[in-house]
Amino acid sequence: MKPRLIWAVTALAVATLGLSAPPAVTMAATAAATDYQAEDATVSQGVVESNHTGYTGTGFVNYDNLVGSYVEWTVTAPAGPADVTLRYANGTAATRPMDFTVNGQPGAVGITFPGTGAWTTWQTKTVRLQLVAGTNKIRARATSADGGPNADKLTVTPTTDDTTPPSAPGDLTASDVKSNAATFHWTAATDNVGVVRYEINRGGNVLKVVDGNTLSATVDTLTANTAYDISVGAFDAAGNASQQSNVVTFTTPGSGDTQPPTVPGNLHSTGVTANSVSLAWNASADNSGSIAGYDVYQGSTKVASTGSLTATVTGLTPNTEYTFTVKARDPDGNASAASNAVTVRTATTGAGGIPAYDKDIAKVDLGWSVAFLPDGSALVTERDRFEVLRVTAAGQKTTLGKVPGVVTTTGEGGLLGIALSPNFASDHWVYFYHTASGDNRIVRMKYENGQLGTTSSPVLTGLAKNRYHNGGRIAFGPDGKLYATVGDAKNSGNAQNKGSLNGKILRMNPDGSAPSDNPFYSTGGNARYVWSWGHRNPQGLAWDSRGQLWAAEFGENSQDELNLIQKGGNYGWPACEGTIGDCGGYIAPKRTWSTSQAGPSGIEIVNDWIYIAGVTGEQLWVTKINSAGTGVGTPQALFSGRWGRLRSITRTPDGALWLTSTNNDKNGGTPSTIDNVIVRLKFP
Ligand code: GCU
Ligand code: CA
Ligand code: CA
Repeated sequence: MKPRLIWAVTALAVATLGLSAPPAVTMAATAAATDYQAEDATVSQGVVESNHTGYTGTGFVNYDNLVGSYVEWTVTAPAGPADVTLRYANGTAATRPMDFTVNGQPGAVGITFPGTGAWTTWQTKTVRLQLVAGTNKIRARATSADGGPNADKLTVTPTTDDTTPPSAPGDLTASDVKSNAATFHWTAATDNVGVVRYEINRGGNVLKVVDGNTLSATVDTLTANTAYDISVGAFDAAGNASQQSNVVTFTTPGSGDTQPPTVPGNLHSTGVTANSVSLAWNASADNSGSIAGYDVYQGSTKVASTGSLTATVTGLTPNTEYTFTVKARDPDGNASAASNAVTVRTATTGAGGIPAYDKDIAKVDLGWSVAFLPDGSALVTERDRFEVLRVTAAGQKTTLGKVPGVVTTTGEGGLLGIALSPNFASDHWVYFYHTASGDNRIVRMKYENGQLGTTSSPVLTGLAKNRYHNGGRIAFGPDGKLYATVGDAKNSGNAQNKGSLNGKILRMNPDGSAPSDNPFYSTGGNARYVWSWGHRNPQGLAWDSRGQLWAAEFGENSQDELNLIQKGGNYGWPACEGTIGDCGGYIAPKRTWSTSQAGPSGIEIVNDWIYIAGVTGEQLWVTKINSAGTGVGTPQALFSGRWGRLRSITRTPDGALWLTSTNNDKNGGTPSTIDNVIVRLKFP
């Protein structure tokens, strides 16, 4: 590839001759790397030494062990992004975090420098910094009492921002499907620079990563008798993500196993109210290596199915004895013998916030979000039919019309969140979060005299979309501002980029402008909208009695999160998932679940009880905020397996809850089939 300088000359010649301009070419070539030795840089609170081998140049800088010690390099570069690599050694076990500034402005914060094993073992860490043309003072400043690591040199490589993603990989096929493995083939994605890796996903989660030259792979971590939906995405070196390939679906065959799991042990009660009993037990084991789930029996009736080791049985009569047992199931459907039986008497009076099933309200397509009108009826969004429904408290359903311009992603996008203006009684605005032809966006429409308008006005546009990770919940806070949960659009790099609207919780004025008291307002651009960052795919928002914002977020392969949101807070994705990974310097979740147990979408708070609709776990999680408002108690799972995948939970004006399910929602729904529910739950 020719250097950019040639174009500059050519472009001038072309302009002079009046010829048509050359075709636009996105240059992603990296310029030459330049080394800057630490021993030649400005050192504040540190000394140049040479007592540990392996350094380059004539030595290295030993930072003084205190907060604020720094090395500052003077670097000459063109304007634009640069990969800045620090070669360092850290002979201790503890990470030595540092912040990078460029000419005094924040560049990269909370960069970790973990132990390298020995003071003579040198490693590198690279950050992307925006440089100005000419002189840049790049400072690496220690932020912990241990000071920085020993610093050898800084290597600066100016790059050109490549913002063009690869095309989607095509023609994905699955072959050799066995009980535990399958082989996938696809055709290459194309990219203006080059594809560096493919990610094979199950739904929105990565199963396997291969390099950019590989067009087939065998995944051997599958489970027998299990439905899979697999797609492939491509990435370039700059981290741009393609859209997903076509999806292949299949169910793995049984393995022929006939040996049942061991019996679940130690079944016991962990909580009793007037209407509910909470149970817990010890895990079973199986020769296949996995347990498909547990079935809870009340006498001889199955009352719950769950993948977890707890369940809460609801709808019980006060002051009555009930006997429970639990059986384990393996992937081939072999059931264990029953556990020990426990007999529990329910309490005499209702106490606490464990809800019971009250009644069915309506059948809908994929009821994604609910907003109650002043008259006690509700507006409901149907994700894949793009319809807005009005549903009365008695369950009478009217189809009001489609939100214009909504498209599916044949995945998790479509018509998603809904919120009523805080001044709805006078302004009649209803807000929607939806996928459009080129983006995800927030719009508003008038709802007047029982009629939904036919046009929408944009409120905030340009949120990246993907088949998966579209976020989509919106809600007005007690401050009258509109908040939105935005997924990373399958490009985790968005979450740590304040200039991207994705992987964020956003806060905006009702007219879509950015409030000047947002934490990064002064940065300008998209950062003006960021309220919190480092999110993967958040879909739940609710405020507690103190006015604190709580949010729920889907994890990748390990942990889902319930977060207490702080203004400007960084929640760590993708370095940190739940409490796993490189989590130093990020805000930890208040509660995590295994991703198979929750898959938390909508959340609601009533009297500081938090209700969390679990999609993947197919159960409603309930927990109480502690009296200090700083955390939550042990969550309990309700209605396990009863209505399938639970998407939203919303308090009703008359003191109950509406719960919606979105089964068949994984790769675009079946919009011709009205097969999901809205049910009403009542408090004790
Ligand atoms: C040791 C080591 C130094 C290092 C220091 C530290 O003294 O020899 O090179 O800088 O530990 O902990 O910072
Ligand atoms: Ca030191
Ligand atoms: Ca078995």
